[in-house]
Amino acid sequence: MNKKTYYITTPIYYPSGKLHIGHSYTTVAADAMARYKRLQGYEVMFLTGTDEHGQKIQRIAAENNVTPKQYVDKIVDGIKSLWRLMDITYDKFIRTTDEEHIQAVQKIFKALYDKGDIYKSEYEGWYCTPCESFWTETQLVDGKCPDCGRAVEKTREESYFFKLSKYQDALIKLLEENPEFIQPTSRRNEMLNNFLRPGLEDLCVSRTSFNWGVPVTFDNKHVVYVWIDALSNYITALGYLSEKDENYRKFWPADVHLVGKEIVRFHTIIWPAMLMALDIPLPKQVFGHGWLVLEGGKMSKSKGNVVDPVVLVEKYGLDAIRYFLLREVPFGADGVFSNEALINRINSDLANDLGNLVSRTSAMIIKYFGGVLPEAREAGDFDNDLISVVSQAKAKTEELLDKLQFSTALTEIWKVVSRTNKYIDETMPWALAKDEAKKPRLAQVLYNLAESIRVVSILIQPFMPQTPAKIWSQLAIPQNQRDWSSAGTWGLYAPHAPVSQGEIIFPRIDIAKELEALAATSAPAASETSKDEGKKAAKQENAKAEAKAPEAKEAPEGIQLIGIEDFGKLDLRVVKVLTCERVEKSDKLLKLKVQLGNEERQVVSGIAQYYTPEEMVGKTLILVANLKPAKLRGIESQGMILAASDKESGKLVLVTVEAEIPTGTKVS
Ligand code: MSP
Repeated sequence: MNKKTYYITTPIYYPSGKLHIGHSYTTVAADAMARYKRLQGYEVMFLTGTDEHGQKIQRIAAENNVTPKQYVDKIVDGIKSLWRLMDITYDKFIRTTDEEHIQAVQKIFKALYDKGDIYKSEYEGWYCTPCESFWTETQLVDGKCPDCGRAVEKTREESYFFKLSKYQDALIKLLEENPEFIQPTSRRNEMLNNFLRPGLEDLCVSRTSFNWGVPVTFDNKHVVYVWIDALSNYITALGYLSEKDENYRKFWPADVHLVGKEIVRFHTIIWPAMLMALDIPLPKQVFGHGWLVLEGGKMSKSKGNVVDPVVLVEKYGLDAIRYFLLREVPFGADGVFSNEALINRINSDLANDLGNLVSRTSAMIIKYFGGVLPEAREAGDFDNDLISVVSQAKAKTEELLDKLQFSTALTEIWKVVSRTNKYIDETMPWALAKDEAKKPRLAQVLYNLAESIRVVSILIQPFMPQTPAKIWSQLAIPQNQRDWSSAGTWGLYAPHAPVSQGEIIFPRIDIAKELEALAATSAPAASETSKDEGKKAAKQENAKAEAKAPEAKEAPEGIQLIGIEDFGKLDLRVVKVLTCERVEKSDKLLKLKVQLGNEERQVVSGIAQYYTPEEMVGKTLILVANLKPAKLRGIESQGMILAASDKESGKLVLVTVEAEIPTGTKVS
């Protein structure tokens, strides 16, 4: 008999820069589902990839003096290595620049055109470049993009349109008759009330003002971008309209498209309309999850290390990060990401609850039974309650995971962990061990503990790729006793397994120290747009300056020229401010502690009138590192921080670096 299939997708990511921990949210969730379904015996297709076309990528590439393809290739490599680090078990990674995808999109476009669902017209409207979305006058909010709130540009050009309006009634019917189609339900109401019932407008699906897209085969000044290009990935990745379409036949329609809430509209209105026009089945479900935001607002990569998944995984370990992402916030709702919440979760749920349970249990089996799992020999109080909680856990976890309720599924599993910890307090094995006559009961208690841990170790597999194997090796749980199905049956763990005291699976973290260290290594917060715009403006200024000023051979008056050997005497280094405070009785001086590679330096700087100590912490600066130490107000300063100051306006700004780079790096 053929295996049951399961097809799950993430959105395809824009390769416009480094991904932050919020991006990993969708992918980690999809990965947990894919792992879960594989464990249940499904044949799974888990698709992710990158959405590489569009004006924005073309612009960024031009700014970096590379072709769009060269630009995206590099970023896509980074995205793939992030997914490797996070142990994302995708079955296929689609790039919209893949030849097979391009050809399939061209066929889809032509098929829709031949059917009369795509027609040529002229578009006048407002365009939001970052979102790659056209908006009508009425859709704008305060004259800005309704999705991202950024400025929009007026545009008019010949375009092809998709007859979205034709599908309005069918879409309303779809949503009304299939309450499961959009999850959570609140998002379904939003689509019906805010978009579908007020009326749909036809959709602009081609552009002529840039060429980084999929060329329209029958009108090659047009390129297809975003909608028909990106959304189609879910079927082109399976070989739709190609000779090799077995996967399409096997896996389509998708079981679930996981998407962030801001792209629910694309996936529940435009995408089903496209599929209706193509006359192919619709996905079974679109799940719109909420956003992870930072305490101060939206997450962005410019917030530095605190949101960099690579840094977080290296610091705390993959399983801790994955656990946190899926446990902290109910899937569907928005949630706040903070380092404090992360460390608290690690300490309480992982180090205290699960980690301690495993190490205490193996330590007791080693101490009282020479490291051999004893046979259960004497039932007693509390056993039935424990066994009942443990035995129900698999069914409850499955029921919740089938609804993509990761957080509550983990809560269920942690009920087992808590119940088992409580069982230790209730049965007090250390007291039983004092009396030889109670050895059979002690054996039973330790068996029950180990058996409960076995069940937990199986159920956490979808969420945590590394921890189960650590537990299995400590408790020597054989392969046939760790199948997913075996988690539903109490007592399968065979006695006599050789138990050992492995490494501590989740070490406790000193929260105060850790938060301080994290703050010190984060980049200053700057909005991405202003940073990008800043870079662009700087580039234009440079270009202007280059055009105007032929090589300056002579020094301007009053400036003494130095040779490169003189400049070479300076040892300039990148440093990061760890702590900062005012110098007592001085209104000019700040005392800083800065990180310089492995070294810490104390620096006194006359900038107290321009920066507060709070503003200084976390800044990346340039230090003259080989300046003779000097004492200012009796405090030693081991170097000097560089700043630009304008005497006329009285303005002073610190010199910093343009992108993240390790401290200690030489500036030359
Ligand atoms: N390219 C489009 C999707 C096209 S799908 C046919 C896109 N790309 S994206 O890179 O901007 O976003 C990818 C996913 O990451 C989206 O689901 C988005 O919601 C999610 N997230 C981005 N920031 C996020 C958070 N801060 N929190 C949770 N998810 C977030 O959209």
